[in-house]
Amino acid sequence: MSKIRSAKRVSSFADSVFGEMTRLAKLHNAVNLSQGFPDFEAPQAIKDAACTAIQAEQNQYAPPYGTAAFRDAIAQDFTRRYGVPVDPDEQVTVCCGSTEAMMASMLACVDPGDEVIVFEPFYENYGPDAILAGAEPKYVRMREPEWRFDPDELKKAFSNRTRAIVINSPNNPTGKVFTVKELMLIAELCQKWDVLAISDEIYERIVFNGHAHVPMASIPGMADRTITIGGLSKTYSVTGWRIGWAITPASLTGGIRKLHDYLTVAAPTPFHDAGVSALSLPDGFYSQLTADYQRKRDLMLDILGRHGFTAYVPGGAYYVMADVSRFGFSSDSEFAQYLVKEIGVATVPGSSFYIDPSAAPQSVRFCFSKLDDTLYEADKRLARLSVISG
Ligand SMILES: Cc1ncc(COP(=O)(O)O)c(C=O)c1O
Repeated sequence: MSKIRSAKRVSSFADSVFGEMTRLAKLHNAVNLSQGFPDFEAPQAIKDAACTAIQAEQNQYAPPYGTAAFRDAIAQDFTRRYGVPVDPDEQVTVCCGSTEAMMASMLACVDPGDEVIVFEPFYENYGPDAILAGAEPKYVRMREPEWRFDPDELKKAFSNRTRAIVINSPNNPTGKVFTVKELMLIAELCQKWDVLAISDEIYERIVFNGHAHVPMASIPGMADRTITIGGLSKTYSVTGWRIGWAITPASLTGGIRKLHDYLTVAAPTPFHDAGVSALSLPDGFYSQLTADYQRKRDLMLDILGRHGFTAYVPGGAYYVMADVSRFGFSSDSEFAQYLVKEIGVATVPGSSFYIDPSAAPQSVRFCFSKLDDTLYEADKRLARLSVISG
């Protein structure tokens, strides 16, 4: 066999279904509700800050772990809102998106042969992140309609081999916001089995009425065993800037910084200043953000309800999962293909968020981080579905 071939470590990874759905959306001129990014503008103040930084010649490598001003802003913001002390010099590392923060954390804190617990349905990167670290992902199912997990299944997933557990709240794809009771159980198990929590809190600012975001690091006994991952992408509608961060126990920071340095050197320089500007936006920005997203969520739920979907109401983030079994397709992938090609709406098949798609419920994920007009257009197109399916 030729040695000019892909390495074994990538052979188990599937091609991204998001890329494929976006390709099909373009081909069929469909409304794209598949990928998780907004089609509306980012706040003017932070765009101005980025342009000013570029014009002021902040165009060479940034300090690898983030500028002091940006790390200070990240630490202060976390402490102010959640009451958890954070030392910007010892505990904050700015990365190329939360994607890199997660990968650097996993590579720096997990050894080959360890196990990493991941809730399913999951954001697509967690399994590959664990596998690239040489670890084995162990999946614990969350079940619709409220996406609760079975505490006994979770307890059984922990063992002496467990090194870390990945939590993502508010959750992609389900919109679940973990309750304090659930976080307390996870915390108790982490402490019992001496396990690290890697908490992806990228949607922390998008939480709807009746729910509250509680960071894992704020649960008693967890600050010293939690890596909190955050970023600018979702809150400030700048997914292309690639700015995220890891807030880590001081004992783990050195390893993560080394990994980050070798992986990417530093995150893009002009966006450190823009990040400071973002984190200094007034509280009104965030209340408006939540109100806007809550309205979009309700619009999306209304559209789905009128066109025959059983949607699971999200408590946070900007996705809705909806059951599609009643449409009579053999799988949700087949339904999603039909939807993009014949109806003109691109979604993501829910089964792609499960390790074994054949054992997943039939659902699709709709992203509602879109202009109202985009959602109205989806509404018009989905109306044809109700006619076709009766
Ligand atoms: C749960 C979750 N984590 C991380 C990311 C990626 O974030 P970033 O743009 O900061 O890499 C996404 C993007 O969709 C996400 O849904």
